[in-house]
Amino acid sequence: MATKKKSAPYAVPKLKDFSAAALDKAAEKLLAALEDESSEVKTEADWKTFRDRWMARKDGILTQVNDLWLKAAPKEAKRDAGQRVNQLKLKVEQGVEAALARAQGGGAEPFAADRLDITLPGTRRPLGAEHPVIRTMNEIVAVFRNLGYSMEEGPVIETDYYNFESLNFPPNHPARDTQDTLFLANQESKPLRERLLLRTHTSPVQIRTMEKMKPPIRIVIPGKVHRNDPPDASHSPMFHQIEGLAVDTNITFGDLKGTLDHAMKALFGSSVKTSFRPSFFPFTEPSAEMMVSCFICGGSGKRGNEPCRPCKQTGWIEILGCGMVDPNVFQFVKQNGYDPAKVSGFAFGMGADRIALLKYGVDDIQLFFNGDVRFLAQFG
Ligand code: PHE
Repeated sequence: MATKKKSAPYAVPKLKDFSAAALDKAAEKLLAALEDESSEVKTEADWKTFRDRWMARKDGILTQVNDLWLKAAPKEAKRDAGQRVNQLKLKVEQGVEAALARAQGGGAEPFAADRLDITLPGTRRPLGAEHPVIRTMNEIVAVFRNLGYSMEEGPVIETDYYNFESLNFPPNHPARDTQDTLFLANQESKPLRERLLLRTHTSPVQIRTMEKMKPPIRIVIPGKVHRNDPPDASHSPMFHQIEGLAVDTNITFGDLKGTLDHAMKALFGSSVKTSFRPSFFPFTEPSAEMMVSCFICGGSGKRGNEPCRPCKQTGWIEILGCGMVDPNVFQFVKQNGYDPAKVSGFAFGMGADRIALLKYGVDDIQLFFNGDVRFLAQFG
């Protein structure tokens, strides 16, 4: 800190006279010196020197004031001197603080905040939107969570064992054909059940979960699946399924129907109806396909005079495959408590992308996956 060249730097004088008037006069001089020196403080480094000169505990000016003006005062003047010295301390402390604010403000412009135009627009950080397929999956999972189901996930790269063998697919079942399944390269040297492929459905997680959790279980399994389908408006080689599995004693087909009917009403509105027709899956017996009454045309097959396209004028939309868990499937996890003589269960699997297409009135599944932000931003 540059002290004034004109006069010698301020030094705390010894007092002979400790009267109120003399103390006040001495204080006045001290504060004038403080102000003088404070006006020379331009940088933070200046300020530190300034602060130490005035406030250092060991030999700062305030300490000297304490020694020379208070401790040295005769008994009868102590009370008065004490009050005055305390006031002085406060003023010096405030003066030192103010000098810092000024130094940080850049000296000439005391208030840095004055240079900030708070009327300017802030920095915009664009928020992403939840992808419509993910949002649909979350909604479906939430419906089942409210029924006491928990969520499980499994790997997208799966073995032949979990994707087919343990789900009771016979060795030459057409679903194992390369027409449908995408196999990983260079697997031929491994035994069939260890060969890797992209899972064609979420059903392998049924077995994986039953291997690690004893009955009773109630789970939903959302996830990506792959099939060797050429992309078009309603097909994509990658899509999403949500699987469900409930195993307990005395689970019946009535439980399956009641659960899925409730879930469809929760998803599409309380007025939709469900209908089951026989079908086939190797891992369920009996198996069914479930339809919901078309929530777009209300089941009439028509929208005004126009045919309803989503339900192809039938009034029904096919939504999922389901059935009672085949006892042959339980055989693979029998040692973990799944004795088909003691437990029964139902399973279902639905396509999340198809449901999202219907829910949001989108007519091309490719829009979900080609990453066009203009399309996705509509779901924000
Ligand atoms: N995994 C079957 C499919 O992908 C759907 C399904 C799941 C059917 C569970 C019955 C039980 O088509």
